[in-house]
Amino acid sequence: MAKVTVSVIKADVGGWCGHSNMHPDLIEIADELLEEAKEKGIIKDYFVAWCGDDLDLIMTHTKGVNNPEVHKLAWDVFNKCTERAKELKLYGAGQDLLVDTFSGNVKGMGPGVAEMEFEERKSEPIIVFVADKTAPSAWNYPLYKMFADPFNTSGLVIDPSMRPGFTFEILDVKKNKMIKLNAPEDLYDILLLIGASSRFIIKRVYRRKDNEIAAVASVEKVNMIAGHYVGKDDPVLIVRCQSGFPAVGEALEPFTYSHLVEGWMRGSHYGPLMPVSLEQATPSRFDGPPRVVALGFQIANGELIGPVDFFEDVAFDRVRQKCNEVADYIRRHGPFEPHRLPLEEMEYTTLPQVLERLKDKWVEVEE
Ligand code: 13P
Ligand code: 13P
Ligand code: MG
Ligand code: MG
Repeated sequence: MAKVTVSVIKADVGGWCGHSNMHPDLIEIADELLEEAKEKGIIKDYFVAWCGDDLDLIMTHTKGVNNPEVHKLAWDVFNKCTERAKELKLYGAGQDLLVDTFSGNVKGMGPGVAEMEFEERKSEPIIVFVADKTAPSAWNYPLYKMFADPFNTSGLVIDPSMRPGFTFEILDVKKNKMIKLNAPEDLYDILLLIGASSRFIIKRVYRRKDNEIAAVASVEKVNMIAGHYVGKDDPVLIVRCQSGFPAVGEALEPFTYSHLVEGWMRGSHYGPLMPVSLEQATPSRFDGPPRVVALGFQIANGELIGPVDFFEDVAFDRVRQKCNEVADYIRRHGPFEPHRLPLEEMEYTTLPQVLERLKDKWVEVEE
């Protein structure tokens, strides 16, 4: 049987209203275009998801990762949606489309990409996580919990095929280098790096027993690509579940803790990551708090059977409540760190611009 590829390609092509939500017209346009592409055989199946102002195209096909035809399709969908966004004067229309012409691959052009290719198992459950008002670093903590912490994932102790552990592929965004480290023996080194989550970001996780791909995240840094702020790189993540991978419930469990992530208002604040249903994915309070949606699918001969909107479950009510409490607490800091990101990390008012205005006012310290 041919291998199946899952491609999740996302962009913010305009917010309704402000940066808070997805206008239904954009979902409709994306649905129509992907349906056409399915009929033409470019893709096997699709689901158009969203989180806040981010449009997430979840697609399956048999063309492998980085396929120009599939990337071009996503690019065209985002451009068509941008046309409508401009008519409606949606906020930041075309925000994540940084170049005018497509050159074979959407990487480096603004959209975020997470893709994996694998042989479809007898039963192939996956979860696609889509987030808004945060950054790819938001996945470091949950990925560690899912694939390296036996207190989260009992399969690491119980399931013989998980026993050899998992390999973490970690990106150093400052040096643009990758490193592969193995859990459990490299745990402390893994934590040393990924704990500094604004610099070291988990890109992929592999199962060590057979080197099968287990998870992949989008790590495109929109701000670094453009060289200046054009939008926070709200991330997506694909996780394979069950039979030698974390159970569905083990992959969801890390989100019962309201860990702090970078993003929120103006992409410049730390705030708690709130797990929500698609319906609740409208970050509003101080443009937040940051949100994550978890969509479950069974893949059946390349078809996406789903989604199951997992965070609809009342089991996540308590963490949502906790996120609101944490938001109340941390918001009281106003413009003070550690609520506000350190200056170097800020995206709107960057350090050089602020300092430029003050440059003539500085005097030497006399004594
Ligand atoms: P079932 O026995 O319901 O298949 O569940 C197994 C499992 O992995 C639960 O996490
Ligand atoms: P987005 O990155 O989701 O567009 O949000 C930007 C922003 O400024 C939120 O306050
Ligand atoms: Mg936006
Ligand atoms: Mg967004």
